[in-house]
Amino acid sequence: MTQHKICMLGGTGFVGHSLATRLVALGHRVRVITRRRERKKHDLLVLPTLELIEGDVYNPAVLRQQLEGMDTAINLVGILNERGRRGKGFERAHVELPRKIVNACREVGVARLLHMSALHASMDAPSYYLRTKARGEEVVHSVENDEFSVTSFRPSVIFGPHDSFINRFAALLRITPLAFPLACPESRFQPVYVQDVVEAFVRSLDDHHTFGQRYDLCGPRVYSLRELVSYVAEVMGVRRKIIGLNAGLSKLQAAVLEFLPGKPFSLDNYRSLQLDSVCDKGFPPIFAIEPSTLESIVPTYLVRRPLRSDRYSSMRQLARRE
Ligand SMILES: NC(=O)c1ccc[n+]([C@@H]2O[C@H](COP(=O)([O-])OP(=O)(O)OC[C@H]3O[C@@H](n4cnc5c(N)ncnc54)[C@H](OP(=O)(O)O)[C@@H]3O)[C@@H](O)[C@H]2O)c1
Repeated sequence: MTQHKICMLGGTGFVGHSLATRLVALGHRVRVITRRRERKKHDLLVLPTLELIEGDVYNPAVLRQQLEGMDTAINLVGILNERGRRGKGFERAHVELPRKIVNACREVGVARLLHMSALHASMDAPSYYLRTKARGEEVVHSVENDEFSVTSFRPSVIFGPHDSFINRFAALLRITPLAFPLACPESRFQPVYVQDVVEAFVRSLDDHHTFGQRYDLCGPRVYSLRELVSYVAEVMGVRRKIIGLNAGLSKLQAAVLEFLPGKPFSLDNYRSLQLDSVCDKGFPPIFAIEPSTLESIVPTYLVRRPLRSDRYSSMRQLARRE
C-alpha cells in the first residue's frame, strides 16, 4: 500500500480522531490543522506519525503552507449549528472553506481530496445544514480534472465512542426525570458505525474506481427516533416515559432550545429532521464492508452510571463544556 502524506481539516473531532488513529496505524503521515491546539493535543499527540498544527483554516496562505508537500487532503469540517440564525456560519464552514481547500490543493499540487458531506444534502433540502453541505459537495466536485480527484461521503447519523448523537440523548435522559419530551419522534435514521465510515475513507484513498464518486453511508437497520431513545434508555438502565411531541410542539421545543448554551436542538436541526436519514441501498459494495449493528457497539461505550452524581457532568456535556 502507498504511504500517504495526508493533511486533515476537522481531524480533531469525533470522526477525525478515529480516522487519524486508523491512518497512523496503517503507516501514513498525518498532519491535522486545528483552531485550538492546546485543547486538542492530549487526544492526538500520542499518535506517532501525526503532527498537530494550530492555524486559521480560513486563511488561504495557511492552507497553502500546510498542504504543501502533501499528496492527500481530507476535509471533515462541519457544524450542526451556527452562532446566528441566517445560515452565514453554515455557508462559511460548508461552502467557503471547501472552496478555499480545493483552491489551495490545486495551487500546491495536492492531487486527492476526501470530503465529508451528509446524507440527503441537496440544494432544495429544508435546512441550511443540508443545503450548504450540498453546495460544498458541488464546489469540490466541480473542479475535478486529471490532476485532482475527489471522493465525497454522505453518512446518516454516525455512532461510536464519543459520538454526539447517542451520548447526547444519554445525557438528556440523565437530567430529565420520569418523562422525556421527544421532538420529531417518528423521524427515521439508519445509524452507521464510525469505524465503518473510517474504513470507507481508508479504502477509497487509492482505489481509482472511487475517484469522482459520492457515497451514501448507512448502517444495517432503520430506527425511528423514539426507538433509538428507548434503546439508549434501556442500555443505560433508566426508565423514562418517552412523550412524542407533535409537529407544532417539536418546532416550539427547537425554537426554545436554540437559545440555550451549546444549542442542544435548533430550528435548523428540526428542519433537517423533516427528511428521513435513511439510505436507498445498502453499504456501497465497493468497500466490501459489512456495517456493524448499533446493538453490537453501543453497549460497549454507553455505561450505566449512577444518575445523581452524573447530573452536572451531563449538563456540562450538553453545554459543550466538557
Ligand atoms: N457525526 C455525525 O453523526 C455526522 C453525520 C453526518 C455527517 N457528519 C459530518 O462529518 C464531519 C465530522 O463530524 P464529527 O461528528 O466528527 O464533527 P465534530 O466532532 O464536531 O468535529 C468537527 C471538526 O471540525 C472543526 N470545526 C468545527 N467547527 C468549525 C468551524 N466553524 N470552522 C472550522 N473548523 C471547524 C473542529 O476542529 P478544531 O476545533 O480542532 O478546529 C472539529 O474537529 C462533519 O463534516 C459532519 O457534518 C457527521
